[in-house]
Amino acid sequence: MTELTWQGKYDKNGKKKAPLRIALPFQTIETVNESAQERIRTLDLFAQGKPTEWRNRLIWGDKKYVLPAFLPEFAGKVNLIYIDPPFDTGADFSFTAKIPPHNPTEKANMTSFVKQPSIIEQKAYRDTWGKGLDSYLQWFYETVLLLRELLAEDGSIYVHLDWHIGHYAKAVLDEVFGYENVRNDITWKRSHAHGDTGQGATHFGRVTDMILFYTKNDNQKWNSQYRPYTPEIINRDYKYIDEKTGQKYRLMPVDGPGGSTKGNPYYEFLGVKGYWRYSKKSMQELYEKEEIVLSSTGKSLNRKRYLKDAKGTPITDLWDDVNRISPTSSERLNYPTQKPESLLERIIKASSNEGDLVFDCFCGSGTTAAVAEKLNRRWITCDLGRFAIHTARKRLLSNPDVKPFIVQNLGKYERQHWMNHEFNNPQDRLIQEKSYRNFILNLYHADKIDGYTWLHGVKKGRMVHIGSVDAPVSLGDVRAIIQELWKKGGNNGLDILGWEFAFELNETAKQLAAENKVDLKFKKIPREVLDKRAVEQGDISFFELAALDVSAKVHKKTQRLTLTLNNFIIQPDDVPKDVMQAITHWSQWIDYWAVDFNYHDDTFHNEWQSYRTKKAPVLELSIAHYYQQKSKYTVLVKVIDILGNDTTKLLDIVVA
Ligand SMILES: C[S@@+](CC[C@H](N)C(=O)[O-])C[C@H]1O[C@@H](n2cnc3c(N)ncnc32)[C@H](O)[C@@H]1O
Repeated sequence: MTELTWQGKYDKNGKKKAPLRIALPFQTIETVNESAQERIRTLDLFAQGKPTEWRNRLIWGDKKYVLPAFLPEFAGKVNLIYIDPPFDTGADFSFTAKIPPHNPTEKANMTSFVKQPSIIEQKAYRDTWGKGLDSYLQWFYETVLLLRELLAEDGSIYVHLDWHIGHYAKAVLDEVFGYENVRNDITWKRSHAHGDTGQGATHFGRVTDMILFYTKNDNQKWNSQYRPYTPEIINRDYKYIDEKTGQKYRLMPVDGPGGSTKGNPYYEFLGVKGYWRYSKKSMQELYEKEEIVLSSTGKSLNRKRYLKDAKGTPITDLWDDVNRISPTSSERLNYPTQKPESLLERIIKASSNEGDLVFDCFCGSGTTAAVAEKLNRRWITCDLGRFAIHTARKRLLSNPDVKPFIVQNLGKYERQHWMNHEFNNPQDRLIQEKSYRNFILNLYHADKIDGYTWLHGVKKGRMVHIGSVDAPVSLGDVRAIIQELWKKGGNNGLDILGWEFAFELNETAKQLAAENKVDLKFKKIPREVLDKRAVEQGDISFFELAALDVSAKVHKKTQRLTLTLNNFIIQPDDVPKDVMQAITHWSQWIDYWAVDFNYHDDTFHNEWQSYRTKKAPVLELSIAHYYQQKSKYTVLVKVIDILGNDTTKLLDIVVA
């Protein structure tokens, strides 16, 4: 067999290296757009052990973990896959964040800046390109191997690449899917002109991308696609006009090519003898519908084909009719690698039917999901980038008919896997936890201390606690930490580092700390810590939790709750100074906020949201909600800032 090889494809024993195959469970972190009734129905079904209704899924995570996590549930069940993997330089991970206006009159001069990729995103980039082409090909090979397993027997996959890598990728796809299963090598003309052909260029302008279309077998779903006829084709081919109806038509021959050898019937019709492509009965029926006409010479027959009934020109593998998203298009989302919806529409219509499951593990701005949603397909999509997930969520919400969907990640399971993998003695939990804590202390540039249960280190005189990988830091933890700090004596500075924090924590614990004269700071352990190479570079930053101030007022008579955002303080990491200066009001940090008016300590059910769009860049800072019943409620408010980070706030209210 002809085969493409690269360094790292085979292990020492000459076996092909296989992708990671641990099936970590998903955690639902948010339910979007689900009505209160649907929510109760889902809970009931769940409680009865019955299958709950399908929910489309937006997943924040690296495909390295997400794909194997899908296999138990979805192997052989995905009807269509489209992927647009990163193949360009690091541009795939940077995005333009805009500083929104504080009030509508500022609209015209919006400041924007390019948010550089986070370390975790850079890491993914290094994963793919770290050792150049060899590592990219191994990464790509592992991806498509798992994607093939996910694909249904009659499923199709489209892989979007360009001249950099497309030819190698094709060889890999031939190996994984079989050469006989390539259907098309589509050329998409993505632009008409290109900046790389300016003065001094020594090559032709690069204006095309490659979309490789493979199927699992040769029985794939297929719906032919057509493009409308051009005026030239209409003028050339549809020359005749029906006198009665005024409809344009063309004449098509009805004789049977190949004569008797092809089994065409021979008979006489309207005085013309010959082999015909229709049976005599069908010919008679067409004639009665006035569709069969005798030529002016009286020697041949033709069929009238009306323009109104024509489907258009069948689409070929040259796609020069799908335009890029213009700079002023309302579709444009400031996501540098965003693809046009019309491109995905063609793919999804051709290779799937309503209700089918469409999957894209490089979601980006969410084009695949947005189009699948509009075309009534089910969808699942994932991305490693926080901003990608946020962009996609907003985009989906902008569709007024969007069905409820869920946002998931692998949360603590990914961290547990990392911990078991990274630290010795996974059997001895205590030793393992100690190694883990020392590792984080080291990254935080703190010194470890022994002899305490809750205090793990010290940095510049401040005591340090390291939260566990499996559970959020809770108020109970903070109480115990403060008690131990007091027992120890002589220190009033405390940094609590955690992966996640209980919802109400930032405020209540700070209050508790202040009462106990402890200067408390909560800092987030960044996901970058999971990456060995980011750690080796030593560029890990621990940022303080953002603080959100929301007030709630209940109007007794009308049972109306009014929520108002009052303040939002964040510690931005890599925001340039001039951008910081452009922010004159705290609300400019906020891109989106959402509310769960009846939070049940499960997932966040997004019942209402306000977010900035290009058309309406100003955010509502207050919202009213009417409760049907008098009761106590827990309200959860979630804010997403312009960098894609989220901060939550829990409020207890009484409607009496
Ligand atoms: C070329 S963009 C996709 C653009 C998308 N087709 C659209 O229309 O917006 C590639 C995406 O892959 C994501 N990505 C890169 N490596 C990844 C990985 N290992 N797992 C999941 N997503 C990844 C990047 O964050 C980026 O959003």
